[in-house]
This record gives sequence, structure tokens and C-alpha cells, in this order.
Amino acid sequence: MSMPDVSTESQTAPAIAVFCPEPESESSARALASRLNLPWLGVVDPRHHTQYPLLLGVVQGRLSVVPTGKGAPGPVFADFVEGALAYRRLHGGGRGQPVARAVGLKPGIYPKVLDATAGLGRDAFVLAALGCEVVMLERSPIIAALLDDALARAALESEVAPIVARMTLIQADARQWLAQGSDLVADVVYLDPMFPHRDKSSLVKKEMRLFRELVGEDQDSSELLELALQRARYRVVVKRPRLAPHLDSRTPTLVHEGKSGRFDIYTLKSLELLKGSN
Ligand SMILES: C[S@@+](CC[C@H](N)C(=O)[O-])C[C@H]1O[C@@H](n2cnc3c(N)ncnc32)[C@H](O)[C@@H]1O
Repeated sequence: MSMPDVSTESQTAPAIAVFCPEPESESSARALASRLNLPWLGVVDPRHHTQYPLLLGVVQGRLSVVPTGKGAPGPVFADFVEGALAYRRLHGGGRGQPVARAVGLKPGIYPKVLDATAGLGRDAFVLAALGCEVVMLERSPIIAALLDDALARAALESEVAPIVARMTLIQADARQWLAQGSDLVADVVYLDPMFPHRDKSSLVKKEMRLFRELVGEDQDSSELLELALQRARYRVVVKRPRLAPHLDSRTPTLVHEGKSGRFDIYTLKSLELLKGSN
């Protein structure tokens, strides 16, 4: 992973500390705490911990964010080898998947994508699995560490190694990254910012809640869209909740409705021009 020289001042400081579940992994966990500049707790059982609401550590071989306390939900991690993404890779509908259609993937057209809000890398992985090269930007050092860990694990598995070889992670704030220089950076810039929810109910998924605790709301997405439109070659795609207003009140050229959300597409040039070039 490429490490930043950019600040992350737009984020709220997360209440999280690094732990290790057993003494054998102490030295690597301590190194992680020092790299991320987070408090170091040593060997801790998250179920009995009360000081921090979230802990970061390797659980069952995966770097994870672990909510603390009795009855807390399970760990959250990025994973490209097992679980939902593995299922989707094998049985997921290929190029017909909404995210693939939104970035314009077709036979002979494999856009190079900049995923400027990488999160746990699921959308990026789906696109890479279908043949796109994807550069991922993630500004939260903690989320980027989860993603980096998942990429490293996947690189050791022969079935997914060729896919993650098409994925590059850069830990940076996309606004600052895109504001540097003026060259076009990708065929498609993909944005999936956190949508500000006022709803604090349990209906908000566990992972969403945890994300919000870690990275807050993405209040700067209008600025990100503006920069993306300046630096994309063919289109900018914005993933939105189904009923959310368009980002920055900009009317997209096209809208694709997906099951879990909507894709607003801002066309700059026809992707047909890419045909056969990759
Ligand atoms: C909703 S999540 C993205 C989920 C992702 N599409 C996936 O499939 O896993 C949004 C992520 O974008 C990141 N983000 C928001 N604004 C950003 C920016 N300006 N630069 C880099 N990352 C950003 C947040 O830290 C968060 O991890």
C-alpha cells in the first residue's frame, strides 16, 4: 500500500485502540499501533473490555475492528477470499451486476477505474474480478489497514491472486489526491461516499454503524464530485441510497437503479471510444 503524506484532518478521531488476542502476536500488533499512531493495549479480551468502544487487532488471521463489551456484534474486516464476495465472484451475475453496468463494462470495454472512496473494497473487487484495473483511494488509515490486510491475504490464494493484482490501494484523501495535477487519472471515477443518515435505529446495518464511528459522515462529497468530473476521462459514477437526492443537486446523465441503491452516471465522453483498446 502506498502511504500518504496527506493529513486526515477532516475525520473525527476514532475511539479505537490496538490489541492482540494472545501474546504470540504482540510484536506485530504493537508495530501496527505505532504505525497508525493508536493507543496500544496489549493482550485484551474484547468481550470484557470497557475503555474503548472499538479495538483493532488480528482475529482468526484477519485484521479486524472489534466492538467491545458483552453481547457486542462480531468483528468487521475486509475479505476477498471467503464470504459474500467469494459467492458473488462465483455466482454473482458477472457483467450484469449493477456496479459493472454503471461503470460501463461491456465485452471489449474494460475501463480503468479510480475508486475514490474504497471502504472495504467490495465494489472495487467486483470490478477487478470482471477484468478492470482499479486504483482505490481510502482516507481512513484504519479502513485502509483492513483493506491492505485483505489484499495481502488474497494475494496468497491462487483463485483470487490474479484479481487483487489488478487492485492498487493508496491511502489518501481523494480530494487532495485529485487536486494535485491536472492530467486525467482514470477512465471512470467511482464514488460511494457515506450518506448522512439521521436514522440511528438498529435498522442501520452493524457495519454501517461501525463505519460511521470510525470515519464519520462524508460531508465533502460535493467537492469530491466536482474534482472527479475534472479528472475522469469518460464518466463519473456516484452510488447513492435509492431515495437520496443527487449529490450536490447535480442531475446525472443517466440513472441505474440497483437493488440496494442507485447509480448516478455523469457522462463526459462515450465509453465506446475505448472499445478494443484494452
Ligand atoms: C460507503 S464506504 C465505501 C464502500 C465501498 N464502495 C465498498 O464497496 O466497500 C465510503 C468510504 O469512503 C471513504 N472516503 C470518503 N471520502 C473520502 C475521500 N475524500 N478520500 C478517500 N476516501 C474517502 C470513507 O472513509 C469510507 O471508508
